[in-house]
Amino acid sequence: MRTLIAGCGYVGRELARRLLADGEQVWGLTLAPADLPEGVRPLVADLREPDSLARLPEVDRVVFSAAPTRFDEASYRATYVRGLGNLVAALGAAPSPPQRLVFCSSMGVYDQQDGSWVDEGSPTTTDKANGLVMLECERLVQACPIPAISARIAGIYGGQRCRVVRDVQAGTATTSPGPSVFTNLAHRDDCAGALRHLLTLRDPEDVYVISDDEPVERNHLLLWLASLLQVPAPVEGTGAETSRWLAQRPGDLGKRLSNARLRASGYRLQHPTFRDGYAAIVAALDPPRA
Ligand SMILES: NC(=O)c1ccc[n+]([C@@H]2O[C@H](COP(=O)([O-])OP(=O)(O)OC[C@H]3O[C@@H](n4cnc5c(N)ncnc54)[C@H](OP(=O)(O)O)[C@@H]3O)[C@@H](O)[C@H]2O)c1
Repeated sequence: MRTLIAGCGYVGRELARRLLADGEQVWGLTLAPADLPEGVRPLVADLREPDSLARLPEVDRVVFSAAPTRFDEASYRATYVRGLGNLVAALGAAPSPPQRLVFCSSMGVYDQQDGSWVDEGSPTTTDKANGLVMLECERLVQACPIPAISARIAGIYGGQRCRVVRDVQAGTATTSPGPSVFTNLAHRDDCAGALRHLLTLRDPEDVYVISDDEPVERNHLLLWLASLLQVPAPVEGTGAETSRWLAQRPGDLGKRLSNARLRASGYRLQHPTFRDGYAAIVAALDPPRA
């Protein structure tokens, strides 16, 4: 099998490693070919520029896992909507188009704020720019001639992405007053594992949520991490950051993502809860100096 990973970054590189281990041929499309795992065939192109996609390799499967480095709406639109549109057009024009496309969407399509459980059938009524961009891409994906899946991914952590661990360790993390918003997480390894699973799944659905089994209240996560790290528990925040954050989201408990469809399709999580994922991260930290 031949797979093109369009946006071969943090998740894409881990996916590439797994596909290579399966004996597949993998192309990694990035703006710059730095740090691609050995064995990945580099493809330097800009998804925003149709001309740079003129010579795509012939592949069986494609994963769109690009992300802009800036978080404003214009950058989102350019990378996701225009980039995905350009890629789909280029793939569709190939003599032998791929048999599957997996698009990395996000939980930003949901705007539930009452702490309720959401799944693939829940309303996607967000009015936020990032969520609207993802929904536009999901419509593009469903309308494209290549059989396609949208994967709505939770907040990715693991590997080098463990800022909350560093904040708790440094004593800079603060809890919020009252019940706190739910955090929905997916370990980087499970993102890659689930994407690989979706590439091979027979008769897939159009949409899958990728998240772990146990959404966790943010305050609980911080206190649990402090206990694991054996550092003082974070105190309730009173600073300007916390106040502004709370002012923007009064009473917002967020949502809890259900991964039931993904699990029912046969995927087994490597890190089913934040406890599994963060315990491995903390165990790998440098020991404190004597
Ligand atoms: N991070 C999260 O918590 C989260 C949550 C939900 C969904 N997602 C989605 O999951 C996917 C993987 O995320 P990630 O954290 O692995 O992203 P990442 O580490 O930021 O990697 C993104 C990759 O996209 C490439 N890229 C960006 N713009 C491009 C362009 N115009 N043309 C070609 N390549 C381009 C980058 O290339 P260079 O390396 O050359 O810059 C990089 O390799 C993304 O689609 C993201 O939207 C992420």
